[in-house]
Amino acid sequence: MKRIITYGTFDVLHYGHVNLLKRAKKLGDYLIVVLSTDEFNQIKNKISYYTYEQRKIILEACRYVDLVVPEYNWEQKKDDIIKYQADIFVMGDDWKGQFDYLNDLCEVVYLERTSDVCSTNTKKHLKSKEQK
Ligand code: CTP
Repeated sequence: MKRIITYGTFDVLHYGHVNLLKRAKKLGDYLIVVLSTDEFNQIKNKISYYTYEQRKIILEACRYVDLVVPEYNWEQKKDDIIKYQADIFVMGDDWKGQFDYLNDLCEVVYLERTSDVCSTNTKKHLKSKEQK
């Protein structure tokens, strides 16, 4: 069984996320999403609309996702790959090159990001509508 691991905040889940998860799952049999906790988002200067628990519920309902676990910091990736026996580490290509150091533990794959959609813009758009 080939195990895939990927990371992110996945706030206000959109079709760009689903495209990424679908293609990630296709690379193997079991997809693990390591989901940024609210505390880790603070470190990254990100504020999510949905809480960690809410984002987790949504991701778990996605047919391509087999397991959702928390991401607490930048440094845990190597431990996660070993713990979850991941064969392939997947990220969108906005991260291209940044995780090549994991190559000694597993294959590292960057998938093309879906254009014209991101959580930040969706939230901005909804906020501006709210103010009208
Ligand atoms: N992703 C993607 N295509 C998009 C948006 C995100 O393939 N249009 C991928 C990212 O490359 C990453 C994963 O989805 O591998 C989770 O990304 P995340 O940062 O949570 O999503 P964004 O929509 O980019 O969120 P934000 O606007 O907060 O940065």
